[in-house]
Amino acid sequence: MAGGVTVAVVGATGAAGQTTLRILEERKFPVRELRCFASERSVGKTVTFAGEAVPVLRFEAAAFRGVDIAICSAGSAQSREYAPLIVKAGAIVIDKSNAWRMDRQVPLIVPEINPHAVRGHRGILASPNCTTIVTVMPLKPLHDAGRLRRVVATSYQAVSGAGVNGIAALREETLAWARGESVTPRHFAHPIAFNLIPAIDGFADDGYTGEEHKLVNETRKILELPDLAIAPTTVRVPVFTCHSVAVNAETEEKISATRARDLFAGFPGLRVWDEPTEQRYPMPIAVEGQDDCFVGRVREDLSHPRALNFWVVGDQLRKGAATNAVQIAELVLRS
Ligand code: A2P
Repeated sequence: MAGGVTVAVVGATGAAGQTTLRILEERKFPVRELRCFASERSVGKTVTFAGEAVPVLRFEAAAFRGVDIAICSAGSAQSREYAPLIVKAGAIVIDKSNAWRMDRQVPLIVPEINPHAVRGHRGILASPNCTTIVTVMPLKPLHDAGRLRRVVATSYQAVSGAGVNGIAALREETLAWARGESVTPRHFAHPIAFNLIPAIDGFADDGYTGEEHKLVNETRKILELPDLAIAPTTVRVPVFTCHSVAVNAETEEKISATRARDLFAGFPGLRVWDEPTEQRYPMPIAVEGQDDCFVGRVREDLSHPRALNFWVVGDQLRKGAATNAVQIAELVLRS
């Protein structure tokens, strides 16, 4: 692949697709040629890459001939249909949707945690759910040091996780409130401005949501711990782009708060902001625009001798989506 690779971005007009273009630029990914795809309604528009206007194309399998790597964030239904066609055309697919993550033949990768899994791919590689990525990053060093037994995780998830329409809903509802108008839901089942919605991605028969099941199943797959006990609650909050997660992690061996801070600080892609007396801890506003995940409020559990509480924040569009996908593409190139 000397001289660079031909990259396709599917869903290039969306929130994750737009961020993917920025990350490819920032990380100087060796793009020789870029092809961008979106829905029928965007054909004729352009997106910007490396200062140039790139035309948006409609999806057709023939347009993927000669593509080396396709990064897809056009939604699960589209990925289920498109990914096999793209692979057949000769490209490797890195998929950010939920379509392939739990397929046994598809590696589910967070490059800092399980880069070895890249070797098993058969054309499709999956990037995890955004909340899973932010949660699993600090869990990995804790597991390596003291073996995880049980995790209780409660998320505070930004509207960017629902794409451009989620972002527009928070903006428009907030502006309506500022004008003194009633706040009616623009995209979610309820207003998101000045509200919290404890339901993301539909309810299953067991009372858990799809998002909560993703957090459990994907965390187990990435950490290669199929029996890890995880108790999830996922909540949409009126924040634009960062997901925050309050985590309680129980380990077989005791890990002190001081040791945990050192473990987090030494793990690639994680940074520690934990000076409570200085009012320094991770917050969405402070973390937005950064690729690392930030951990703070690290405390030993008052109710359990071998458990820790902590708070982790990551930019949903970056490490939660685009950055992780581009890191997977970099692994693919290296392998
Ligand atoms: P479009 O902008 O034309 O609707 P988000 O997650 O931010 O909502 O973005 C979803 C992305 O997926 C957008 O780029 C959207 O394009 C694209 N998309 C939606 N449906 C299709 C489709 N059937 N084929 C290709 N791209 C699609």
